[in-house]
Amino acid sequence: MGGTLHRKLFAAIYDPFQAAGERTWLGAARSDLLGDIGGDVLEIGGGTGANLVHYRSADRVVIAEPDDEMRAHLLDKLGRSRVPVEVTADSAEHVNAPDDSFDAVVSTLVLCSVEDPQVVFAEVRRVLKPGGKLYFLEHVRGDDERWIRRKQRVEPVWKWVGLGCRLTRDTPGILESEGWSVEVRREMAPSKVPKILTPFVLGVATP
Ligand SMILES: C[S@@+](CC[C@H](N)C(=O)[O-])C[C@H]1O[C@@H](n2cnc3c(N)ncnc32)[C@H](O)[C@@H]1O
Repeated sequence: MGGTLHRKLFAAIYDPFQAAGERTWLGAARSDLLGDIGGDVLEIGGGTGANLVHYRSADRVVIAEPDDEMRAHLLDKLGRSRVPVEVTADSAEHVNAPDDSFDAVVSTLVLCSVEDPQVVFAEVRRVLKPGGKLYFLEHVRGDDERWIRRKQRVEPVWKWVGLGCRLTRDTPGILESEGWSVEVRREMAPSKVPKILTPFVLGVATP
């Protein structure tokens, strides 16, 4: 989604746009979610590599990022990782890995943007080893009806600007309806983040 110039601009402003959040709450949330994940890890939609510095216990992280502009920024940061990292251009819908390949799959701020979350969850389920888990940190629809209506009004423009990002995706609800067991460990609405983008949920899902 998005022309080359749009994607180039999005990738160029992504880190500066997120910088204050990373310092004040988002970085800490990433660290809590990712720091203790061990074994072989797949991260879908790795973007510019914001999670790289937060992996402490993984044996290996494969980061899949289909957008070449985002991936270029990610490749520039590889030296910051404490754990071995490989980067691929795979989409979350088609991961180039055999069944039962990973102990954990990570998604942060990605499931709002995928076209069909059911297809992605089926692919995540396929590549997870038995007992493996999906770790997520996502902004979601929430259940405040007044804000859901506001989000619905803004969504068409936001989705264009944000290369497919939806404000009203009920990621935990979709996971549950696809048969996953979902544990939302934290729900966040940081005061400095526009309310239209909240709540964020951090948690773990088991197929
Ligand atoms: C908002 S950025 C988040 C980047 C990063 N995960 C983070 O936490 O900062 C969304 C990312 O999801 C990626 N993305 C969108 N659709 C995708 C798909 N179907 N499969 C994999 N990645 C996708 C985009 O290319 C982009 O890098």
